[in-house]
Amino acid sequence: MTQKSIHLNLFVHGRGHHEAGWRHPRATRLALTDIRYYESLAKKAEDGKFDSIFFADALALNEGIGHVAGGALEPLTTVAAMAAATRHIGFIATASTTYYEPFNLARLFASLDHITNGRVGWNIVTSWVRGANQNFGIDTQPLHEDRYDRAYDFVEAVLKLWDSWAEDAVADDPQQAVYARTDRIAAINHAGRHVKVAGPLNIARGPQGRPVLVQAGSSPTGIRFAARHAEAVFTAHLEKSTAAAFYTELKAAARQAGRSSDQVVVLPGISPVIGSTDEEALRTWNELNELTDPQVGLTRLSDRFGGFDFSHLDLDRVLTLNDFPDPTTVQAAKSRAVVITGLVARERLTLRQLLHRLAGARGHFTLAGTPQRIADTIEDWVRSGAADGFNVMPPVLPGHLDDFVEHVVPLLQKKGLFRREYESSTLRGHYGLDAVPSRWTENERQEVAIAV
Ligand SMILES: Cc1cc2nc3c(=O)[nH]c(=O)nc-3n(C[C@H](O)[C@H](O)[C@H](O)COP(=O)(O)O)c2cc1C
Repeated sequence: MTQKSIHLNLFVHGRGHHEAGWRHPRATRLALTDIRYYESLAKKAEDGKFDSIFFADALALNEGIGHVAGGALEPLTTVAAMAAATRHIGFIATASTTYYEPFNLARLFASLDHITNGRVGWNIVTSWVRGANQNFGIDTQPLHEDRYDRAYDFVEAVLKLWDSWAEDAVADDPQQAVYARTDRIAAINHAGRHVKVAGPLNIARGPQGRPVLVQAGSSPTGIRFAARHAEAVFTAHLEKSTAAAFYTELKAAARQAGRSSDQVVVLPGISPVIGSTDEEALRTWNELNELTDPQVGLTRLSDRFGGFDFSHLDLDRVLTLNDFPDPTTVQAAKSRAVVITGLVARERLTLRQLLHRLAGARGHFTLAGTPQRIADTIEDWVRSGAADGFNVMPPVLPGHLDDFVEHVVPLLQKKGLFRREYESSTLRGHYGLDAVPSRWTENERQEVAIAV
């Protein structure tokens, strides 16, 4: 069997993914608005040869801010600052198709692609968080289906904008007084169902041409979207079997959409608590759970179900599915509601136990154990066809990232599963993704405007 090389992304989230991580002694005491904190995480992840570091984003203040550290820096500006502090690692920044306009988004990412020398990717989100609409003058949250409908139109316009300059459009020839070959730059005249953009973009094509497209839709609608556009996919699973089913479904959907399945890299979340023995790791895990507050957990659970009220439920009664709304009716992140109700259906959990299970990484796979156990589990998921790599979500930052880089990465390298040195200079290269040539050529001048 040929050796499969895996991919690792660091998901940065506050002072760690565990709800109580920010209170742990191994969490940073730097402010969440201090760029040095993010620079040090990026450098550590680069020491560990990670493919990328990822910044999520929500366009409304988290209601739980009173008791959980949050309110971090805006992703795109953060990435711009961190480019100078690193040389190899890629950056994935989140931006919303519901609340941005294609022109400013395409321009921001084209700029970032230049600033980072081809190390940027866009996490395409439709914004599931309630309340964001009110920050943009929209009275009610757009429905899940409608958000995705706009996302298709939006991404199409962005791709056209990125292709509106041919690779050789900039002549920059002072002798001949020709800066740009204007016949190599074209308007896009995109008029879709939701967005209308004339173009062309006002910045030259970036080093990657197209920044890497990342997405995390896992509902049937989300999977269709990912199959059409995503080159890397984040996904949340509590066990290998559902991750493997998702993996198979997404790769098949990509093939059906006319794409090669190896051009869609699937990265489930893993939140590892590492100890020198399994018992020590479990002790850390329990310590973290003891620091949680059920009121904080209840607010987060309610958010996941679009504001549904769970506060009347007894914390120590075993839950049934009747305690939850039908996940298919949820207008937030549908697939996460399915993950949570699936857990309730499988295991006889009380509300308190469910909140503890979700405190770690909000419905992602959590694992407490030795470095060997973590490395073996990663290998097992990859070899079983459940993952191409992982979205690493340390419960406490930077402490648990340090553990992962120092103790798990060397084991993955020893297994021949993970790079020892960077072999490419772009994010596209790290993920083994093909270059995407501009669809702009002399003969196909109209192509940019018509076909995507
Ligand atoms: C690892 C991961 C990171 C995500 N980051 C964001 C984010 O930064 N902002 C956001 O609005 N949604 C984010 N989401 C939510 C997804 O964009 C999507 O709404 C969610 O996975 C549910 O998919 P579905 O809407 O197809 O059910 C993230 C999801 C995952 C799994």
